[in-house]
Amino acid sequence: MAEFAEGLGGDELVLVNNAGIAQFGPYDQMKWEDALAQIQVNLAGLMAATHAVLPRMLADGRGQIVNVLSIAARHVFPGAEAYAASKAGALMFGQSLSASYRKHGIRVCNMLPGSTDTPIWDAGGWKPDAEDMLTPEAVAEAVVAVISAPDNRSFDEITLMPPKGIL
Ligand SMILES: NC(=O)c1ccc[n+]([C@@H]2O[C@H](COP(=O)([O-])OP(=O)(O)OC[C@H]3O[C@@H](n4cnc5c(N)ncnc54)[C@H](OP(=O)(O)O)[C@@H]3O)[C@@H](O)[C@H]2O)c1
Repeated sequence: MAEFAEGLGGDELVLVNNAGIAQFGPYDQMKWEDALAQIQVNLAGLMAATHAVLPRMLADGRGQIVNVLSIAARHVFPGAEAYAASKAGALMFGQSLSASYRKHGIRVCNMLPGSTDTPIWDAGGWKPDAEDMLTPEAVAEAVVAVISAPDNRSFDEITLMPPKGIL
């Protein structure tokens, strides 16, 4: 569910909640199991991983959590109901978490990437032109920049878009 990046943040424990699944299409034709799976992985999974690491971060008095969410947490895409619900829920979870724990040294970054050329699009259906999309390396570099930041700043939210914007 989560990727640990000990080393990049020095001796600070870092959790990158990146795991996710997506299925787009008419909601009335989507199997309920497929809608629920997106909530389970994208929202409940992120919450579970966070729940697992938070006590150690609090004991350390510091820690960083980067949630790789999506522009779909904010921008409305037809046919993305379950995915959008999972990402918007995760955004509010991350913001609430930050409000509760930032005074205890926990930095939470909610990252909202736009379309990125990864296998998540392989499920079929419409896909933007690959040359217009972000590369996965661009998103990874942004994550590294966040977790490498000095203690005296917090990137609370990052919207990382392809230059052409919504594709
Ligand atoms: N691609 C985009 O356009 C885009 C845009 C905005 C946000 N995002 C978000 O970026 C994140 C990464 O997605 P991606 O585009 O890199 O897709 P991806 O290539 O399909 O990678 C998805 C990752 O999630 C893991 N994963 C999926 N279900 C899992 C489960 N039940 N338990 C543990 N790990 C699971 C996969 O692990 P395995 O390989 O082991 O299955 C894989 O590492 C997701 O949260 C996605 O929503 C993607």
